[in-house]
Amino acid sequence: MRPVGVIILAAGKGVRMRSRLPKVAHPLAGRAMLEHALRSACAAVSPAAVDAHAAGDGDDGSDHAARFIVVVGHEAEAVRAAVSWRPAGASLTWITQARQLGTGDAVRVAREAATQPDASGAAPQTILVTYGDTPLVRAETLRRLLEAHEREDATLTFLTGQTSEPNDYGRVLRDSAGVVRGIVEVKHATPDELAITEVNSGIYAFTADWLWSRLDQLQPHPNGEYYLTDLVELAARERRRVATHCVALAETMGVNDRVALAEAERILRERILRELMLSGVTIEDPATTYAHVGVRVGQDSVIHPGCHLLGETVIGARCEIGPASVIRDSQIGDDCQAQASWIEEATMEPGSRIGPMSHLRPGARLRPGANLGNFAEVKNSVIGERVQMHHFSYMGDATVGNDTNIGAGTITMNWDGRVKHPTVIGERVFLGCDTLLRAPVTVGDNASTGGGSVVTRDVPEGALVVGAPARVAQRVLSRRPDGDTAAATGGSRAVEPSAATQTDHADEEAPDTTGGERE
Ligand code: UD1
Ligand code: CA
Repeated sequence: MRPVGVIILAAGKGVRMRSRLPKVAHPLAGRAMLEHALRSACAAVSPAAVDAHAAGDGDDGSDHAARFIVVVGHEAEAVRAAVSWRPAGASLTWITQARQLGTGDAVRVAREAATQPDASGAAPQTILVTYGDTPLVRAETLRRLLEAHEREDATLTFLTGQTSEPNDYGRVLRDSAGVVRGIVEVKHATPDELAITEVNSGIYAFTADWLWSRLDQLQPHPNGEYYLTDLVELAARERRRVATHCVALAETMGVNDRVALAEAERILRERILRELMLSGVTIEDPATTYAHVGVRVGQDSVIHPGCHLLGETVIGARCEIGPASVIRDSQIGDDCQAQASWIEEATMEPGSRIGPMSHLRPGARLRPGANLGNFAEVKNSVIGERVQMHHFSYMGDATVGNDTNIGAGTITMNWDGRVKHPTVIGERVFLGCDTLLRAPVTVGDNASTGGGSVVTRDVPEGALVVGAPARVAQRVLSRRPDGDTAAATGGSRAVEPSAATQTDHADEEAPDTTGGERE
């Protein structure tokens, strides 16, 4: 294929959105509208720019690096900030259109950047123009457009759609022989022209030399705007070859208002869910399942109704998600379960499970086999293997060792009002119900706390502490070799009163050492 330069128009305000956010910065399935347009164009002309990893070093085998130019204007900074993705190994240039004088003017401001020779001394021979508010077009479709443009040796080839619904697309005018004569915008169309069902998608392939030499011939309309679409009529008058390629409106729809935004979101969502299902994921109710583009889910995982899989989320194989779970920017390993839970920037390692009503906040990591239940909240903490944390508990800035049991109502007091402090809990620890851990604090391996303990000082390995503030009550003499903390509540554990307890609490009632419920 001839070297292609891509120009994406994104300078308009998008008045019909009635938004303070520039139109092309509005998110759709987790990415800015403009980013969808940019990624599709990249995938069409330079697949390596989209997935440098898959292509090795970003070299697509051609001598010419792909060139992408985005024309911004209204709220240019906000638009740029909305697109963090960059094509690999290709140049991306942002050009500012100072005044939004129409789509024709927008292409004109990109001319200088688009005609610069590259390292090999060449400039693009074909210019692909797309609009930043046309996010649904697929890369394959753009590729077919470019192929048709070369095959038909056309001066201008553009995508059209068919619709008989009322709409604000430009209408494609043809003569009685079917030859394209021009495009008329809705606001200038006669009733007969309005009845035309073939519409302009705003995606064009131009022969570069012709485009650059004709742009200056565009005349402003009474509203002061230069229309790119007028080039179609110009080419037709010059009897040049104008080709069209008709595709479903579901791909070429332009998003001008929030009704179209919701429609585009629905179309994109259906596409994403369909791909997941075809790859081996069960989605029980696609109508109530929301997945962002880029979310990955492994084979034989089941997504129950009412789930939102957002951002850069990766879910492994054989997982059971939902009903009603929200997962954002998180990694879920194989064989995990998350019922009716909220997970953000967190990691569940294989075979861990949560819910219903658990909340994993940023930095939470559940090690394999960890099991969190009702109303468990974890933030910036590692929860060890096979840890049981079933009821109403909070671990913040904590490290919890393997096989530890966290009794109902146990919480870390990690914030002193000014600073966050860490809590370290060892392996095979048994925290009784309602234990409060005032950070910074460490609980040694095999230690236990009585129900309602307020732990303000480090707990030695193997000790039992009770009370508020918690003091050492007993020292463990022996434990079952398998480390099963269930023994702690059953009285089968051999303990002896510690010297400290005998002194401090000689006259007090025996403390309640009942631990948390274990399932
Ligand atoms: C445009 C087409 C119309 C087509 C429709 C398809 C023109 C004159 N009309 O109409 O034929 O059916 O798209 O969706 O092209 N932009 C700039 N600078 C400007 C003006 C616009 O960069 O000065 C950008 C906008 O940000 C937007 C795109 O160009 O991304 C299209 O502009 P918009 O105003 O939405 O054009 P439509 O009225 O939809
Ligand atoms: Ca538009």
